[in-house]
Amino acid sequence: MKIGLLGFGVVGKGVYDQVQKRGDMEVSRVLVRRSIEEIAAISTANAEDIFNDASIDTVVEVMGGLHPAFEYISAALSAGKNVVTANKAVISAYYSELTALAKEKGVALRCTAAVGGGIPWLVNLERCKRLDTVTEVSGIMNGTTNYIMDAMHAAPVAFDAILKKAQELGYAEADPSADIDGDDIRRKLTISANIAFDAKLDEESIPMFGIRTVTDGDIAAFQSRGYVCKLIATARKTENGVAAWLEPTLVDNHALEAAVPANYNLISFQSEYLGRQSYFGQGAGRYPTASNVVQDCIDILGGQRSFYADKSEPMLPDNSGVAHRYYVRTCAADAWLESITEETLGDGVVTGAVSVAEMLAWAKAHLNKDSSAFIAAIR
Ligand code: HSE
Repeated sequence: MKIGLLGFGVVGKGVYDQVQKRGDMEVSRVLVRRSIEEIAAISTANAEDIFNDASIDTVVEVMGGLHPAFEYISAALSAGKNVVTANKAVISAYYSELTALAKEKGVALRCTAAVGGGIPWLVNLERCKRLDTVTEVSGIMNGTTNYIMDAMHAAPVAFDAILKKAQELGYAEADPSADIDGDDIRRKLTISANIAFDAKLDEESIPMFGIRTVTDGDIAAFQSRGYVCKLIATARKTENGVAAWLEPTLVDNHALEAAVPANYNLISFQSEYLGRQSYFGQGAGRYPTASNVVQDCIDILGGQRSFYADKSEPMLPDNSGVAHRYYVRTCAADAWLESITEETLGDGVVTGAVSVAEMLAWAKAHLNKDSSAFIAAIR
């Protein structure tokens, strides 16, 4: 296999190092903007050098971002090359276009590293679907935010300091808002739900609430009740389509999710025959993520020539049928919140069961009145 590598950042360098150790593949060209001594002999600043090189059969895109990644992946597929990417933003946003193009060209489009870093999640979701019906995908899908939450439960720690540490360790996105506000997770949920349910969800249609406003006081209150707070994404097959959302969630301290440390992820599916099956591993970082990229290349060497799902039917998530209790902390309680409040907890209150659709819409709008408000579902 001759690989054209687009990007030589955290993941690109990891892929290069792992491929260097193998005899069945080589990186023959690398697209980089600036010159890097280690790869000077095979570098180019012109992507056409890769797309027009007939000896390159597989393009590995690890640049990130939407553009020009979308154009480059499209060009590579159009040129009849297999594509492996770790880029969840581009796969989530251009899901139908890219999967259709790969199918038309009869080439592989693989993105296992896009969800769960080094966890073989998407390949096993695909495998489950060969025999079974997936009814739910859910879990902790972001290493940076789990790293932050884990640290905040271990000892009182400043949010900004621990976020900086996650950035230094190479876990965080270029703009870490994508981690702490949930966009990164929403992309991973979109891709997982699309594959699980043969759907085409628009990521923007999935409501979310991140961890930007969580405080030490919130965590202390949760721990006093035996809860651990995790940022959890869920997509569920419903009678009429799909429900999908992500929000901080209080789980019992004996729950599997509660035990997930550092930058690890825990992603699960529920299916009719298997019940729950969970995948735990490093959700971010150079070598874990690069491992899934190289594994995709090995699958292509073994004959893999497809995406993980064959269909993508447009669907709009409907969360009105899912309800649970919430912890809400705000200095600007309104009549609606007071009408559903059952008790106080620390600086916040605990509500009765409220639909996810209603609470996440309220919370999003409420941040305009109280930008420090925090909510967490109680599972
Ligand atoms: N920023 C992401 C995370 C990287 O922290 O999980 C892996 O997708």
